[in-house]
Amino acid sequence: MSRLNMKRVLITGAAQGLGLAMARSFAQEGAEVVLTDLDGIALEAAREELASSRVRCRSYVLDVTDIDAIDEVRSALHHDAGAIDLLVNNAGVVFGGNFLDVPLAQHQLTYRVNVEGMVAMTHAFLPDILASPRGHLVFIASASGYVGLPKGTTYASSKWAAIGFAESIRAELKHLGHRKVGVTTVCPTYINTGMFEGAAPPKTTTMLDASQIADKVVEAVKRRRVWVREPWIAKITPLLKHGLPTPVSDFLSDAFGASSSLDDWQGRGKSES
Ligand SMILES: NC(=O)c1ccc[n+]([C@@H]2O[C@H](COP(=O)([O-])OP(=O)(O)OC[C@H]3O[C@@H](n4cnc5c(N)ncnc54)[C@H](O)[C@@H]3O)[C@@H](O)[C@H]2O)c1
Repeated sequence: MSRLNMKRVLITGAAQGLGLAMARSFAQEGAEVVLTDLDGIALEAAREELASSRVRCRSYVLDVTDIDAIDEVRSALHHDAGAIDLLVNNAGVVFGGNFLDVPLAQHQLTYRVNVEGMVAMTHAFLPDILASPRGHLVFIASASGYVGLPKGTTYASSKWAAIGFAESIRAELKHLGHRKVGVTTVCPTYINTGMFEGAAPPKTTTMLDASQIADKVVEAVKRRRVWVREPWIAKITPLLKHGLPTPVSDFLSDAFGASSSLDDWQGRGKSES
């Protein structure tokens, strides 16, 4: 029997993309999935898709930037089903473009969703995770959380924040003796969800497949792994960025195409940028 059988997993931003792919993968392991998303119509379609495959699932419309709504969803979930065992902080937005060409409001929204939403969700649901016999926190960061990303300044820096927050929570839980709680941080390069349509994956690599990354996240949770970094280049990026003199790491960023990867970006936040 899978270690995830009978566990309840809440995923933010689960109506489509990587969030929905992870919902399918967790469900395949026998977990009950709680889908949440800002987009109620897409969320209902996702819930119907999973329910039609006899997956135990429920859904709640939730904007992770709305602190009152987070508390309301937690209360409703406790009333309807009970506490969660796993929280997957996945909801994210990007507004690409040269820093000055993107309205300040879009930069600020990037931090509100990608950073403040993640912190607020973790603050609300960590008591559930601590009470679970085998709780787990998953943070969907990005390989851009290790590099400077032209045309993705606030997106990349929000992912630096996600990695720093996840590492600090992990260290704090360990320091406090909560050894049964797992923490996994996920740092992929570009994935084929549409969020980064037109972006160029690092040279020698291809666009990643959302269902494959989702399976790797589930495997990491089962094995209590701290990191999912995909593909190979994401595994060595921290070393390349922080272990080498800056001119060398800048050269490698250019050589692997990281610096120009968003030049032709046509992804999800494009029309609003
Ligand atoms: N696609 C990639 O190339 C890629 C690479 C690395 C990391 N990531 C990260 O993976 C996560 C999922 O990305 P994706 O590619 O599936 O994107 P996506 O755009 O397909 O899905 C994101 C989901 O988040 C939801 N969302 C947006 N704002 C929200 C809010 N305020 N509250 C609740 N839900 C909200 C959207 O409605 C959408 O369903 C994000 O955190 C993203 O930064 C994506």
